[in-house]
Amino acid sequence: MAQEDVFKKIVSHCKEYGFVFPSSDIYDGLGAVYDYGQNGVELKNNIKQYWWQSMVLLHENIVGIDSAIFMHPTVWKASGHVDAFNDPLIDNRDSKKRYRADVLIEDQIAKYEEKIEKEVAKARKRFGDSFDEAQYRATSPRVAEQQKKRDALHERYSQAMNAMDLAELKQIILDEEIVCPISGTRNWTDVRQFNLMFKTEVGSTADGASTIYLRPETAQGIFVNYLNVQKTGRMKIPFGIAQIGKAFRNEIVARQFIFRMREFEQMEMQFFVKPGTELEWFDKWKQTRLAWHKALGFGDENYRFHDHEKLAHYANAASDIEFHMPFGFKEVEGIHSRTNFDLSQHAKFSGRKIEYFDPETNESYTPYVIETSIGVDRMFLSVMCHSYQEEKLEGGDTRVVLKLPAALAPTKLAVMPLVKKDGLPEKAREIMDDLKFHFNCKYDEKDSIGKRYRRQDAVGTPFCITIDHDTLQDGCVTLRDRDTMEQQRVAIADLRGLLEERVSLTSLLKKI
Ligand code: GAP
Repeated sequence: MAQEDVFKKIVSHCKEYGFVFPSSDIYDGLGAVYDYGQNGVELKNNIKQYWWQSMVLLHENIVGIDSAIFMHPTVWKASGHVDAFNDPLIDNRDSKKRYRADVLIEDQIAKYEEKIEKEVAKARKRFGDSFDEAQYRATSPRVAEQQKKRDALHERYSQAMNAMDLAELKQIILDEEIVCPISGTRNWTDVRQFNLMFKTEVGSTADGASTIYLRPETAQGIFVNYLNVQKTGRMKIPFGIAQIGKAFRNEIVARQFIFRMREFEQMEMQFFVKPGTELEWFDKWKQTRLAWHKALGFGDENYRFHDHEKLAHYANAASDIEFHMPFGFKEVEGIHSRTNFDLSQHAKFSGRKIEYFDPETNESYTPYVIETSIGVDRMFLSVMCHSYQEEKLEGGDTRVVLKLPAALAPTKLAVMPLVKKDGLPEKAREIMDDLKFHFNCKYDEKDSIGKRYRRQDAVGTPFCITIDHDTLQDGCVTLRDRDTMEQQRVAIADLRGLLEERVSLTSLLKKI
């Protein structure tokens, strides 16, 4: 099945099974805004717990905060977001549709790359087992021609973006003959800068009101609380502050479901270090964060680092962790060495001294910062994409199963009486009433056992237990494993311990 079709199936599965709904669905939705349903909110909360505990529980020197979404407007002046948090946009005069100029050009680069891959795939088919891919890539004139075009475009585009040369971005779009996907024409406006922050007003009267912004990142809430936390928590450098919260960006192009949203959630941690040690910490955090992802067991080959060549003016190193989504390797998390830029800017704009006094060396300095920043929604999407599977079963049936890591699954255990009589529902309720204090359990007595198993497979429930007539005699239930579909008889008294080992967040955290 084409990857595009797989992705469409995942999106409709998310809606059909209560994971993600379009926002204001009965009004036909709102672009790039989504709601999480009854299963989605559980999965999302488990992802957040996994991150929070890996930061705050496992590191003695990391503490959490929860800062407000609204902040003093000067924060965004100091951080540079008012002046520079822009995307280059372009309109097509015929379709009246708006695009990001950089995205149009990046799509064009991807088209050259696709052509190369198609050539390689064709050759692989033609030559069979004797195919030497490396040699073909190095010697094929067709590949060379596309590669040359791709590299030239990439170089020209990088230079234009580095210089934010808007006229040149438009010229590239014209020279590459990029057309609007809706109107099919090249009737483009000039490229303009567009600030991504949402504005609103605080205060009740027009006179007294002042413009404030919905935060486009949670990080600034951490920077402005640096002194508060360091002093009240008597924190010694190196130390970190972690936060999970909503962020808002008026994205011009809303694409790929919950990958790029206008309202989303971030999990960010700022780690304050001594100047000069930041690159060492940057490498450490890259490895720590990659290990967090890999512990989920999605396969090491599905992750890669993308080290940034072009750095923001305040950064001295930056790298993304990319995950293999159905639409290619995409950024899920960024790790940035932000120097002392943010704290220095806030010191300058607030007039406060924001420094750390090192009791060991008797010197004061503005700490440097390593930031780890991951989008909850993108993480959710990567978990869904990897877990969604359609399996052919013996006998020709197909089952749709979400092979979610057990610790992240919305429901850990489905409790099912074989029939709705003979005291089996009562026994099932009794077991459920005990286990529900320890795991998220669901009781299900409707339809045949086969149908109930399929329902639980589709929402990723790792275990089901069936209470049958023997249970009343021998105190055992049938435990069914979602992934292997194997069944085993287990004593009711052993259930809790057995499940705890397999579904708890603790067992996942121990794998990092
Ligand atoms: N404080 C640094 C910062 O915000 P970023 O690379 O702009 O850096 C960090 O964002 C992460 O936030 C991204 O890796 C991504 O997972 C998530 N993110 C950013 N914009 C997003 C959007 N529009 N929709 C969903 N997630 C987004």
